Amino acid sequence: MAQVKIMARKNGPFRVEAPEGSIELVDADGHKYDLTGKPNFALCRCGGSVNKPFCDGTHSRIGFQAAEAAVRAEEQGKDQQKKP
Ligand code: FES
Repeated sequence: MAQVKIMARKNGPFRVEAPEGSIELVDADGHKYDLTGKPNFALCRCGGSVNKPFCDGTHSRIGFQAAEAAVRAEEQGKDQQKKP
């Protein structure tokens, strides 16, 4: 079983669960975010958080809807064949 789990919450953030110290989260300049004491945290994917890259709950207020779901590769192939 993987040590790190990233779950796309329904109409919400990416929830990251990992043993403390096993993840390094850096910004575009390579500076580390302090994850001390945060074995679990949520990353914003709605774009509305004022505390990016972390979720601050704004997704609920703005009615964020995520359409994606995990699909098997075979199913993706079928979908692509249906497109004109
Ligand atoms: S996903 Fe929660 S604030 Fe963006």
